[in-house]
Amino acid sequence: MAFEHILVTIEEALGLIQLNRPKVLNALNRAVMTELGQALADLEANDAVRCIVIYGNARAFSAGADIAEMQAATPVDMLRQNWIAQWERLRQLTKPTIAAVSGYCLGGGCELAMACDIIIASESAQFGQPEINLGVIPGAGGTQRLPRALGKSRAMELILTGKFIGAQEALARGLVSRVVPVEVYLEEAKSLAREIAAKAPVAVQFAKECVNKVFELPLGEGLEYERRHFYFLFSTEDQREGMRAFLAKRPAEWKGR
Ligand code: HXC
Repeated sequence: MAFEHILVTIEEALGLIQLNRPKVLNALNRAVMTELGQALADLEANDAVRCIVIYGNARAFSAGADIAEMQAATPVDMLRQNWIAQWERLRQLTKPTIAAVSGYCLGGGCELAMACDIIIASESAQFGQPEINLGVIPGAGGTQRLPRALGKSRAMELILTGKFIGAQEALARGLVSRVVPVEVYLEEAKSLAREIAAKAPVAVQFAKECVNKVFELPLGEGLEYERRHFYFLFSTEDQREGMRAFLAKRPAEWKGR
């Protein structure tokens, strides 16, 4: 898999995607988004890959959509290219995705991180939706996902002013699941990804799907959705193996079926 603006590597069960436009703080241009979409499709199709980590570098996860590329676009250009649709692909992935965020995580970069299942932040991470300062608004989920993470009032404040929040506030409000020193943020994300990758794959997929339904379904339907998936798992070999292994006091050996 050779790309120009991202680096994709596979480390055992992990698919790793590094955004690689450091000179412009990993600004997301059309080419990056197309490559990211292709890489995600490749990793989703690769049975050896169980968990995906997306990261940038210590200074920037991503400073958002590429302003230089976007500035002259017409609505028809935007509609035809429809590059924000790549985010739908991220939403539909069955494999868990972790964003490992350090430095700037702004605009489309913040939206990309929030489209992942888990965010691990370095102490230097800064999150924000500064689109208002460009005369536009977030266009890839910022107005929808940030309020779900931070609550309406704080999200409204950030989106209407373009101000950033730091890693500790992001942690306190639940936007990220942990904050670690810059030197280890990527390793911490990989270590979490390895831990998830070692679990029963069908159960992982179902758990991810059920948690994400929280944002889409009323409670009754969500509980029903969860219950049916729970029952269905009793058709898998991994359910038998997991429970037998527990009772026999030995580690389970997952088959992924
Ligand atoms: C294009 C960008 C960029 C961006 C930074 N650069 N962000 N280029 N698009 N989003 C470029 C700068 O022009 C500069 O290039 C180089 O990266 C380094 O940036 P500096 O500004 O010199 O660094 P610094 O002073 O440290 O400031 C960092 C910063 C600032 C606070 C992150 O760069 C900034 O405010 N960037 C824009 C953030 C933003 O508004 N994002 C939202 C974009 S709209 P040169 O050539 O001068 O070295 C968006 C919409 C999403 O995301 C819609 C759906 C996807």
